[in-house]
Amino acid sequence: MQQPTPGTNRFAHYRKQPMMLGIFATNGSASVGINTVPSSYELSWDHSLAIAELADGIGFELFMPLSRWRGFGGVSNYAAETYETLTYMAAVAAVTRRVMTIVTLHLPVVHPVLAAKAIATIDHVSRGRGGINMVMGWYKAEMGMFGLAPHAAEDRYVYGAEWLEVVQRLWTENKPFDHEGRFFQLKDCISDPKPIQARPPIVSAAMSESGVRFASQHADLTFASFHGHEHLREHSRNLRRVAKDAGNPDVGLVCVSIIVCRETEAEAQAFFKHLRDNADLIAARNLAVQSGTDVDAVPKEKQEEFLRDVAMSAGSVALVGSPEQIANQIADLHAAGVNALFLGFHDYLKELPFFAERVLPILEQMGVRMPVEIAQ
Ligand SMILES: Cc1cc2nc3c(=O)[nH]c(=O)nc-3n(C[C@H](O)[C@H](O)[C@H](O)COP(=O)(O)O)c2cc1C
Repeated sequence: MQQPTPGTNRFAHYRKQPMMLGIFATNGSASVGINTVPSSYELSWDHSLAIAELADGIGFELFMPLSRWRGFGGVSNYAAETYETLTYMAAVAAVTRRVMTIVTLHLPVVHPVLAAKAIATIDHVSRGRGGINMVMGWYKAEMGMFGLAPHAAEDRYVYGAEWLEVVQRLWTENKPFDHEGRFFQLKDCISDPKPIQARPPIVSAAMSESGVRFASQHADLTFASFHGHEHLREHSRNLRRVAKDAGNPDVGLVCVSIIVCRETEAEAQAFFKHLRDNADLIAARNLAVQSGTDVDAVPKEKQEEFLRDVAMSAGSVALVGSPEQIANQIADLHAAGVNALFLGFHDYLKELPFFAERVLPILEQMGVRMPVEIAQ
């Protein structure tokens, strides 16, 4: 087997795709949305493997898990079962050949010396496709399991920046170094082997002002929460202005989408409504409350609809329609400044092949996707 050249940059190559595509969160017991509608989707390694191989074979660029340590209750006990992300992504790295295997890490619970070596290991296993999605931890009950509390909002990304500085030094420096910081005091640090990539890509899902500032300085990809196209365009413009000033002009913007694509618009809309009608409102409320939303501030008569929106993935964009309509909606997101899209399906193994067969060719015709040659 041919070994990759050290210092290669697979991500920069993928970044030439007008719209990169990826899969997010198939390491958890719920697929997309918080609902009770049956699906063949399940949390098992065989199922995960099938989705990863499918995405890889189709020619997607990104694959990323959710980092979750406990669920949110309700009838569905949403996200109660999850695979740990480093072990999961090491396995995904070993069985895929193309997708970037980006590991979502809760930074407060993973020491940077451990993370630097673990991600370098995954970079070797994947032959240069490792990466980190930096998550700071906001779910109190989750952090409590580690004897920690979430960092105060103003400190989260100060911690993140220091954590990342240590990791990047470990990835690049050949002589042992000491680190005397606010959060870490470390002696004689060294990590070998170095990653294959010159620098495994960094992803951020920060939404707060300080978080977005952090992402604009340090991230290769940062998430946008979807609140309409105008908001997205504005967010994209601001992000790129700040990122340019921070010396990180190539930062990419990524959205998460829930895709309901059927032969006709009527069929797609009917299924989307079915998902929404069967939302698990208790789990949705728990998630909203835990993430700091004051649900009781929403007028009583509007609360149910609000929780149904949360259940259909707050901040994600719902793409619903026929193949042509879905392709047009993806093109609109691209025109609004989105460079990458994580696709979520209610039933991946049924719906992803349909998407690949019917939507991808249209995206290629439109110039929103370049034809993919499967990288070895
Ligand atoms: C697409 C997406 C994925 C996320 N994945 C996780 C995750 O796996 N685990 C987690 O605890 N938080 C996750 N988050 C939460 C973010 O890391 C972040 O804390 C949140 O967006 C609030 O931003 P802030 O930290 O700037 O306040 C995710 C957010 C988004 C938008």
